[in-house]
Amino acid sequence: MQEIRQNTTGLAGTIRVPSDKSISHRALILALLAKGTTTINHRLISADVTATMTAIQKLGANVIENDDHTITKVVSEGRTMLINKSQALVAFDFANSGTTTRLLTGVLAGTGIKAKITGDTSLSTRPMQRVIKPLTTFGAQIDSNNNHLPLIINTPITADKLLFELPLGSAQVKNAVLLAGLASGKAVEISDKFKTRDHTERMLPAFGGEITINDDRITLPADQNLVGTTVDVPGDISAAAFWLVAASLVDNSEVTLTSVNVNPTRAGILAVLERMGANLSFKISAIGKEPVADITVKTTKHLQATTISAQEVPSLIDELPIIVLAATQATGTTIITGASELRVKESNRIDLVTTELTKLGADITATTDGFIIKGPTKLQVNEPVTLNGHGDHRLTMMLAIAGLINKGVVTLADTDNVAVSYPTFFQDLRRLTK
Ligand code: S3P
Repeated sequence: MQEIRQNTTGLAGTIRVPSDKSISHRALILALLAKGTTTINHRLISADVTATMTAIQKLGANVIENDDHTITKVVSEGRTMLINKSQALVAFDFANSGTTTRLLTGVLAGTGIKAKITGDTSLSTRPMQRVIKPLTTFGAQIDSNNNHLPLIINTPITADKLLFELPLGSAQVKNAVLLAGLASGKAVEISDKFKTRDHTERMLPAFGGEITINDDRITLPADQNLVGTTVDVPGDISAAAFWLVAASLVDNSEVTLTSVNVNPTRAGILAVLERMGANLSFKISAIGKEPVADITVKTTKHLQATTISAQEVPSLIDELPIIVLAATQATGTTIITGASELRVKESNRIDLVTTELTKLGADITATTDGFIIKGPTKLQVNEPVTLNGHGDHRLTMMLAIAGLINKGVVTLADTDNVAVSYPTFFQDLRRLTK
């Protein structure tokens, strides 16, 4: 429970936001599949990444970290160690982490390790058919509770080649197949017309992996034996998003966010905020194969409404809750379509973003696949109001920013869940608001 008061004279300061969650998961999983030592610099320290790290340890990787977790060394015998593992059932609890679940289901179905996967209440309601279907088409035998957790992976994939056309814009599904191929040593050919996040593809060559990308088509040869390498993890644009919007909306603000990953498959929010008239400037560099930028954001007097449709959604899927908040302060009607996936994230983000922001006076209509937001509306209530993140980390952090720009007193219930992706969120909030 936290009380958020609008008593800041503006957000100011320079911070490095937490490291990228997607890249941290992938670095740990590829380190498990690789033979030798992988050094991961600046992995994200968060509950979701702990789920993946605990899992790779259970699967035989040795993980050694320095005290502040900035250097993670993963020592593994590689994928052959997994294929030769004993037949006893291994139990995993992946807590809240959809990425851990879907990516490691691919790995497990590739190796033939018998496994049972459970998770928390939120994860247990999320759809798993999207990974069960391709993996069973490739010959794996997977039991589930009507396509939900618990999953039991009984036998591995048998197909010689994993040919797959991605049916929805989900990087998690793409990676389940890609990692099943790498773990099993089968060749892979995936068509991804949605251009979902491509961190695995960018990281793989450093592990000695061979990958060809031709327009939408991703091809991997059979029998790849990866070797340990070094991965540097940049800052997470999904975490930076909260400050990009907060500093745009709060008067007298200027915030610099350093080393933010601006991979085009992730950076949709930057294009959206620029269309809306936000005041952003960039100093671009690179960390490994990932483009990064120091981003400076200053208050914007007038934001304009915009339109976001299906094609842009995969590049900003996790940022939509905070984009909706920005839209409540923009002049005109913002229309967001093609985002029905938001209904099956850590919570039903279409309904809950609408319900919670409406409590503050926002004019939002939830649609089947998005939102219609009319602005600007003063987020102002006369009575103290309690907002609820419903156990969803991104909803909680968006509501904290809404509380900051609201003119009344807002209490935020259920805030511990920020630990899933951004454990230091409230510390950074205090630091930037002085
Ligand atoms: C992720 C992909 C996205 C995103 C999630 C992380 C990943 O999910 O929402 O937070 O690391 O691959 P989908 O690919 O299922 O949309």
